[in-house]
Amino acid sequence: MNESQSCDLLIHSSSQLLTLAGGPQRGSSLGSLNIIEEGAIAIKNDVIVGVGANHEIQKKFQAKRIIDAAGRVITPGFVDPHTHLVWAGDRASEFEMRLAGASYMEIMAAGGGIVSTVHATRNTDLDRLIATARERADAMFLHGTTTAEAKTGYGLDVATEIRMLEAILEIDHHDPIELAPTFLGAHALPPELGSDPKAGYETYTNIIIEEMLPTIHSWWLETREEDPLPFVDVFCEEGAFTLDQSRRILVKAKELGFPLKIHADEFVGLGGTGMGVTLGAISADHLVHTPQDDILALGNSNTVAVALPCTPFGLGEHLFTPADKFLAADGILAIATDLNPGTAWCESMQYAMAIACRYMRLTPAQAIAAGTINAAAAIGREKWVGSLEVGKQADLLILDIPEYAHLGYRFGTNLVATVVKKGKVYSTNDKILG
Ligand code: NIG
Ligand code: FE
Repeated sequence: MNESQSCDLLIHSSSQLLTLAGGPQRGSSLGSLNIIEEGAIAIKNDVIVGVGANHEIQKKFQAKRIIDAAGRVITPGFVDPHTHLVWAGDRASEFEMRLAGASYMEIMAAGGGIVSTVHATRNTDLDRLIATARERADAMFLHGTTTAEAKTGYGLDVATEIRMLEAILEIDHHDPIELAPTFLGAHALPPELGSDPKAGYETYTNIIIEEMLPTIHSWWLETREEDPLPFVDVFCEEGAFTLDQSRRILVKAKELGFPLKIHADEFVGLGGTGMGVTLGAISADHLVHTPQDDILALGNSNTVAVALPCTPFGLGEHLFTPADKFLAADGILAIATDLNPGTAWCESMQYAMAIACRYMRLTPAQAIAAGTINAAAAIGREKWVGSLEVGKQADLLILDIPEYAHLGYRFGTNLVATVVKKGKVYSTNDKILG
């Protein structure tokens, strides 16, 4: 008997179907795309039910809807594991100051930087926060990001931080993109504590530990019982939270049951990566100036190294995450946009991949794995997204390119023609002319 199975959607005739099958890719295995030449994929409801060669899938499945990929490339939807999606206002004037010679941390120490976005965000109501974040989330989605992490951190007080979480959850629940929320109360010094930064950071660290984390925890359990707890993240940096303050915050978060992340080694290697590894953080992010011992510790752990190549690019700097060292240490390397108004207003993982190829010397295949399956691991979702395998969520892209190496090689235009999210089809290239 050769009875065909029914499915909702069948996409056939790709030139290459990049499955990324086999789980997160460590060290030298990064870049295993596991390609099916002329592959097809079958979807039922929001789940992948078949992946294989065209003739095999077309024989096996009877589909309600059929899409001809017409010799283009099919990839998993991109996962962006580090964004500051929700904010108000912009910092275009700071960009001009930096071009004139001021550094990012100098602007922050003078009361600008993150804190200027904090003022704008505190003065913006929930509807407006959602509306502006939604525009960026739409842009991300149309550029192929089907799942992303999104941080708070422009409130620095409980009310605004909760408002940011509400904005993230609203978009997660109602828009096609899926968001993994992160509480980043430890992003900067609240302006009301700013007169003596050294004492202020110490006071604010205690406020986070004694008041904010427990309040966020109970708010979450009371109002959001169906959503898993968000990540807790800290900006561990010279001029922001010290290593000791970061540790105390993360230890408290861990005690409360929050999964952990850390911003480490963006400008100075303080030991944040090693500390994150010791505490079992799911990822350590930035990692431009990471000490070699910490690189080795990360390589021996399941903590994912999240490189943010748009950030040094956005700051006009010349040092990027040393991918070769993390891969030599057998680390799991991911990339993200770091979308934020200060250093990297970039919604496109395609652009992050293009920069990673040039300045981190990743091959296109490595950049694709770093932006899909490894990026999914950086937010703990590698069992559901990041690869095209039977049983996983049907999140995929049809790219308007003949072979995968055009990703990374081409930049500045959108190569995504179609986004499929949980089995639903969204077209990005509705013609405007004719
Ligand atoms: O990851 N470095 C700290 N936080 C962000 C920037 C946020 C901002 O400048 O608004 C980052 O680059
Ligand atoms: Fe960041």
